[in-house]
Amino acid sequence: MSEKYTLAICGASGSAFGVAILKKLIQKESVSQINLMVSTTGKRCLLDETQLRPEDLVSLSPKISLRSDQNVGADIASGSYRHNGMIIAPCSAGALGRIAWGVSNNLISRAADVCLKERKPLVLCLRETPLNRIHLENMIRLHDAGAIIMPVMPGFYSNPKDFEDLFDTFALRVLDQLGYSDQDPRRWKG
Ligand SMILES: Cc1cc2nc3c(=O)[nH]c(=O)nc-3n(C[C@H](O)[C@H](O)[C@H](O)COP(=O)(O)O)c2cc1C
Repeated sequence: MSEKYTLAICGASGSAFGVAILKKLIQKESVSQINLMVSTTGKRCLLDETQLRPEDLVSLSPKISLRSDQNVGADIASGSYRHNGMIIAPCSAGALGRIAWGVSNNLISRAADVCLKERKPLVLCLRETPLNRIHLENMIRLHDAGAIIMPVMPGFYSNPKDFEDLFDTFALRVLDQLGYSDQDPRRWKG
């Protein structure tokens, strides 16, 4: 089976979580294509926090296909494009608001809008704190429209030994939402 996913990294703290998700998708044999977008501010946050550029991410695997956030005419902007779901990690409060109100003015918000109208999985890993009423209402709107709201709130029950372990565990929990199944020793065993 050949799976295709879309991953967007927005301008919020925690781009390492997006990178960890990307690495997990690369590792999954059944994934043939990962459509990657990094917003303009996302590029700045990615560089600040991970010292990586989008091109560095592309060099990780031939599965990755980089799309410009400005190209609203790309394939993933259309409901006719077949894929298995989209993740935004980290998702800025700005992107959350744009998607919640149907403002499809760039490829990230348009592709997310298409996921909702086509009933495809859309996982939004919001990174903001504290949350104002607008953020909270936007999360409810998106939840009701079918999105999975999964803020960057990693669990600590697996006793992560370092940051990488923490990013990795959160990445697996996000991918669980898209049906990812592997022998993850960090699953809670009771
Ligand atoms: C260094 C930096 C860090 C930021 N961190 C956050 C953040 O953690 N959460 C957030 O919602 N916005 C954050 N912002 C603001 C967003 O990047 C800004 O609202 C931007 O317009 C979001 O657009 P984007 O989703 O297209 O990247 C940050 C901006 C900068 C420059």
